[in-house]
Amino acid sequence: MKITVIGTGYVGLVTGACLAEVGNDVLCLDIDPIKIKMLESGDIPIHEPGLSDMVRRNIAGGRLKFTTNIQQAAEFGYVQFIAVGTPPDEDGSADLQYVIAAAKNIGKYMTDSRVIVNKSTVPVGTADKVKATINEALVLRNVEIPFSVVSNPEFLKEGAAVEDFMRPSRIVLGVDNDAAKETMRALYAPFQRNHERLVIMGVRSAELTKYAANAMLATRISFMNELANLAESLEADIEDVRKGIGSDPRIGYDFLYSGCGYGGSCFPKDINALIKTANIHNYDLKVLNAVKAANDLQKQMLTNKIKKHFGTSIINKHFALWGLAFKPNTDDMREAPSRVLIEDLLKAGATITAYDPVAMDEAKRIFGNTKGLTFAASPNAALDKADALVIVTEWKEFKSPDFTFIKKHLKENIIFDGRNIYDPKIVRNAGIGYLPIGRLAN
Ligand SMILES: NC(=O)c1ccc[n+]([C@@H]2O[C@H](COP(=O)([O-])OP(=O)(O)OC[C@H]3O[C@@H](n4cnc5c(N)ncnc54)[C@H](O)[C@@H]3O)[C@@H](O)[C@H]2O)c1
Repeated sequence: MKITVIGTGYVGLVTGACLAEVGNDVLCLDIDPIKIKMLESGDIPIHEPGLSDMVRRNIAGGRLKFTTNIQQAAEFGYVQFIAVGTPPDEDGSADLQYVIAAAKNIGKYMTDSRVIVNKSTVPVGTADKVKATINEALVLRNVEIPFSVVSNPEFLKEGAAVEDFMRPSRIVLGVDNDAAKETMRALYAPFQRNHERLVIMGVRSAELTKYAANAMLATRISFMNELANLAESLEADIEDVRKGIGSDPRIGYDFLYSGCGYGGSCFPKDINALIKTANIHNYDLKVLNAVKAANDLQKQMLTNKIKKHFGTSIINKHFALWGLAFKPNTDDMREAPSRVLIEDLLKAGATITAYDPVAMDEAKRIFGNTKGLTFAASPNAALDKADALVIVTEWKEFKSPDFTFIKKHLKENIIFDGRNIYDPKIVRNAGIGYLPIGRLAN
């Protein structure tokens, strides 16, 4: 099949590469010429395991191409995926300007019948807006070309995106006509060979399903974070509680880890957008408002612990920071808890040397030459002259450190762990103070 993917970011690039991998002819469009130039030469602008090889393989095979030419993109694919960003608007709702611009361009230049697939996370009713936008463009051109608009929200996880796309647990399709349904079924056939993974529904239900999934996962995290905070006052251990409830098959183990808050490009903005949608419809999503409020507070939890430990002032204290990305295996720092922590610590007069295996370039782009923030080439190098170590991302390479080395280098000999990655007994037996989240003091 000839496929155009509009927007070559995390979702668009993974979608394009994976669809090319199974034999389709894919053209990826982006309005960012630097990104496209990079991709054309086989360089990948994001860190995503397995993606580089796949992109290079499919460029070499002639199945994956990149362009900034909007007309060429609209003319190319029978299926046109929209995978542009939907960042938060000033009022928290999803900003649809990029989705609408993509739809306008399709309508302006499409020459034959098209299936337009919305992969971006968009509020309920957006498919209707996309349809109306394309129709307006066709009316202006005084042509009639048939097209359908399908909702196909994306559930990939950054850090495991290629694996998620190639072996999806489910493929949600909101589709209101049989021809488009069959096109989508054929397109996804290679990804569901051992059993049917399509969950087919109405377009509006599909749009809501994406928000419902993220809202549920964020709810589990905020719930556990609140219990972890309470556990500290009750002298209970949240890790034991997690195991105790996760073993209930009705609950399960996933997304029950407590920590210093959720971040990323999806949960925060999608929760805001769903709350906003509900407000527009005069409904107050009480649970989700609480999930969001709890997370905002949780992002300050580590700084509060640090300030409490050191007394009122942390002026001139120097911290080693392990982890910048919002989660492991990605360089994405959108809404990352590390950003709040860095800003709070610097504001309080402390200085920081940070290390992250892949997100340091992104951090340098975000923070520029911010005074008091420097970067180290390795986790151990970050410890140099530090009073304490703060862990914000649970990268594998942080999980078994040399505690003797840490003890020797930390002036105040204490680790603040925002991801609960160590067994408290092991750290304390190594003679280091340890302040995780919601765990027993000894
Ligand atoms: N990142 C994730 O893990 C993830 C997972 C599931 C769903 N989503 C959703 O998918 C959508 C895309 O997210 P992302 O993280 O890939 O975003 P991103 O910011 O990484 O990429 C979006 C790309 O679209 C390009 N773009 C914007 N307007 C364009 C236009 N008119 N024509 C062509 N290109 C255009 C941008 O230059 C950018 O490269 C969002 O709605 C997001 O919520 C993201």
